[in-house]
Amino acid sequence: MAEKKEKEEYTIEDLPGVGEATAEKLQEAGFDNIMTLAVASPKELSDVTGIGEGAAAKIIAAARKYADVGNFETGEEILQRRKEIRKLSTGSKALDELLGGGLETQALSEFYGEFGSGKTQIMHQLAVFATLPEEKGGFNCDVLILDTENTFRPERIVQMATFRNADPDEVLKRIHVARAYNSHHQILLAEKASEETKEYQVRLLIVDSLTSHFRSEYMGRGSLAERQQLLNRHMHDLLKFSTLNNAVVAVTNQVSARPDIFFGDPTSPIGGNIVGHTATFRVYLRKSKAGKRIARLMDSPHLPEGEAVIQLSEDGITDVQG
Ligand code: GTP
Ligand code: MG
Repeated sequence: MAEKKEKEEYTIEDLPGVGEATAEKLQEAGFDNIMTLAVASPKELSDVTGIGEGAAAKIIAAARKYADVGNFETGEEILQRRKEIRKLSTGSKALDELLGGGLETQALSEFYGEFGSGKTQIMHQLAVFATLPEEKGGFNCDVLILDTENTFRPERIVQMATFRNADPDEVLKRIHVARAYNSHHQILLAEKASEETKEYQVRLLIVDSLTSHFRSEYMGRGSLAERQQLLNRHMHDLLKFSTLNNAVVAVTNQVSARPDIFFGDPTSPIGGNIVGHTATFRVYLRKSKAGKRIARLMDSPHLPEGEAVIQLSEDGITDVQG
């Protein structure tokens, strides 16, 4: 190696045994950085690239030496970081209460439910709230949205901001939206999200929808393992963003319409355990009458299970009146 590089500057081509052809195969299979290789198993690498398992094991061993896997932290440092956790209001007192005061920073929150259950509306509302001053339940910060279904509507932001007595133009200026065209694009955008934080402070990152691309691109049992692996890596990028930036990460997820292929329960969210184990809060949304929605907190580690009823309207998410 001619010059010494910082660990994160190494690319897969720097690894001994990885020539141009191998690098291309690896990249096509989604192993496009040192870290994904370092945590791969020889068998899966061999399966997706056609490289022999022996050669794959050598590549992985090399990647582990080069990978910037992070450091141990003392309990004191972790406690200090946890003291900085802040809470973002959803605009509904009932829902905030269910969540123990709002959505926490340094954590990933998932909203799942069938089409029209209000996931995208809640994401718009969170984006508005994040820009609001702290005394109104916000973070006074900028927001990043990864929009995978082309459902971001600035007009809705204007309506919701106006209802909260905020200047809609100021709110819109602080919401930065990127369309993700496929799952790899989505993963790349999440990795690049940290670069945005050099320009402005981001305490809310939204992915709407987390799973739609993965679901349509990886159909059937044969590709399930690869899908879960990519999703896993994506979730960890998101979680890392939330800790490094003391940010809320909010994602949406649909429920499986293919109980035969996915996880049995027709109300189970896409991605199953991978998503479940990474998300700190999981909120299940059900439709009810007259624009009402029932939000149910699922398997939270430190909050009681329970439900809150919210109202969807032109004004956004509010409590039910009367
Ligand atoms: P998918 O992305 O298709 O899975 O659905 P979703 O869960 O994201 O649903 P979304 O948040 O788009 O909710 C759509 C529902 O919100 C509609 O059926 C309406 O009931 C409600 N809604 C959206 N915009 C408005 C609005 O401007 N006024 C009113 N009154 N309701 C609205
Ligand atoms: Mg939606």
